[in-house]
Amino acid sequence: MKKVVVMASGEGSNFSAIVDFGIIVDRVITDNPNANVIKRAEKVNVPVFVVENKKKERVWHERTILEIIPEDTDLIVMAGYMRILTAWFCNKWKDKMVNIHPSLLPAFGGGCHAIEDAWNHGCTVFGITVHWVIPEVDAGPIITQRAIHKFTDDTLESITGKIHRVEHYVYPETIKKLIS
Ligand code: GAR
Repeated sequence: MKKVVVMASGEGSNFSAIVDFGIIVDRVITDNPNANVIKRAEKVNVPVFVVENKKKERVWHERTILEIIPEDTDLIVMAGYMRILTAWFCNKWKDKMVNIHPSLLPAFGGGCHAIEDAWNHGCTVFGITVHWVIPEVDAGPIITQRAIHKFTDDTLESITGKIHRVEHYVYPETIKKLIS
C-alpha cells in the first residue's frame, strides 16, 4: 500500500474528500493547533502531528516535520498548507509532493486569497490547479487543471463554493492516479 501524508493548516475539507474517496492517509501534519483538520483526522482515526512554528525558525520547523514524515512516504499532499517551504525541503521531496491551488496557475499564484483576488480582478473564469511542488511558490509542473465559469448571478461566496466542490473530486482522483 502506498504511503500518503497530508499537510494542512485549516479547515481540512480536502483532507476529508481524499479520505472519503478511499485513499488511506498515513498521517496529517499541521502547523496550526486550532485547525479544523485536526478534528476531521481524529474522527477517522488518522494520526495528527501539530508542529507549530512558535520560534519562527523555518529550518527548525522543517527539520521537525521531516522527522515526522516516514522515509518511505510515496506522496506528500499539501491540502491548504499555508506555509512556504524552503528549497531544501522541496528538493528533499522532489517529485513526491503535490499541492492544490484555487486558481488557474500561473494566474493568481503565490498568495492565500486566490479566489478573492481573481474575483476582484473581474475574472469570469476561475479554476483550480494541482501541481508538483518546487521551491518557487505555485510554479511547479502542472498535473491537472479545471476551469469554473462564473454565471451572472454568481457571488464571491457561490463561486468559492463551486471551486471547493470541484477541488473535492479532482484532487482525490488525481492523487489516486499518482499512487496507482
Ligand atoms: C483550498 O481551497 C486550497 O486550494 C487552498 O486552501 C484551501 C484549503 O481548504 N490552498 C491554497 O490557497 C494554497 N495556496 P481546506 O482546508 O478546506 O482543504
